[in-house]
Amino acid sequence: MLERLQELHDEAVTRTAQAETLKELQEVRVAYLGKKGPITEVMKSMGRLSTEERPVVGQKANEVRESVQALIEEKEKTLEEAQVLEQLKQESIDVSLPGRPVSKGSRHPLTSVVERIEDVFIGMGFQVAEGPEVETDYYNFESLNLPKHHPARDMQDTFFITPDLLLRTQTSPVQTRTMEKHEGRGPVKIVCPGKVYRRDEDDATHSHQFMQIEGLVVDEGIRMSDLKGIFEAFVKSYFGEDRDIRLRPSFFPFTEPSAELDISCAMCGGRGCRTCKGSGWIEVLGAGMVHPNVLEMGGFDPEKYSGFAFGMGVERFAMLKYGIDDIRHFYTNDTRFLEQFARE
Ligand code: PHE
Repeated sequence: MLERLQELHDEAVTRTAQAETLKELQEVRVAYLGKKGPITEVMKSMGRLSTEERPVVGQKANEVRESVQALIEEKEKTLEEAQVLEQLKQESIDVSLPGRPVSKGSRHPLTSVVERIEDVFIGMGFQVAEGPEVETDYYNFESLNLPKHHPARDMQDTFFITPDLLLRTQTSPVQTRTMEKHEGRGPVKIVCPGKVYRRDEDDATHSHQFMQIEGLVVDEGIRMSDLKGIFEAFVKSYFGEDRDIRLRPSFFPFTEPSAELDISCAMCGGRGCRTCKGSGWIEVLGAGMVHPNVLEMGGFDPEKYSGFAFGMGVERFAMLKYGIDDIRHFYTNDTRFLEQFARE
């Protein structure tokens, strides 16, 4: 019996050593230490032994049992640790890998241009005004000295919603709206950026939706030379000290006299090139002295007050500033185009 016990002990030692998983180890435990296991069997049959043999075999059986139990427990610890390590290895992340970049939007170039132009005018004491994009015929045309059926309406092919409601074709209706708010008292000194709409075929220089910045100054004693001075300061501040300006006679129903402002071409320095079509000058805005009828419709006394107004195309300024050759880039939202202005 002692030999049988020793044999069982050695077997259990080998099988414990061979167990590779906790499950296998559990099988070994059941096989050798379980209630129906061989060691228990030996202990149960001890009754048949002589009184001398019994304590010897009993002691041996206990020793074997304890030894096997201890071994299994030790092995159990080792296997558990190995399992944790394996799990850690599989779940670990490589912290040295670069993270996935979060793509960040940027200011639209037109927004930047509007803000910079606003800043220049705010610096000269102007305030920023706003007006609706869906406008009445009265504000968009009639109050600007363009009665119904006036031929000059053809200059701005219009999206009508009803005979009296339209998408504004210009930011000029904000002139009347602003004057009304001032209730006939000057000074008025505003710029107004905003979207305008015209029924144009879209091409490199035309878009059915574009942006303008309107300007209006009304006070006592405002003269054409004030308009010129403001433009000179604005152009030099926005485009650079080396740019010259010139005013050319023009026509707008709401200004008299009317003028168009040109700036000297940056590409050729005024000598003449493709950008300026050989003239050395680039047209950037329309302007003029506010027509007495417009002052009157805005609630100002034309005998007492005078003023000037101007309107510029924002896309045109952006195109000139950044050398962009197609107006449609601003509205097609190609992120490769927009990203170029991320630092603006
Ligand atoms: N509203 C005119 C346009 O869109 C520009 C302009 C504004 C001209 C103010 C004179 C005075 O063409």
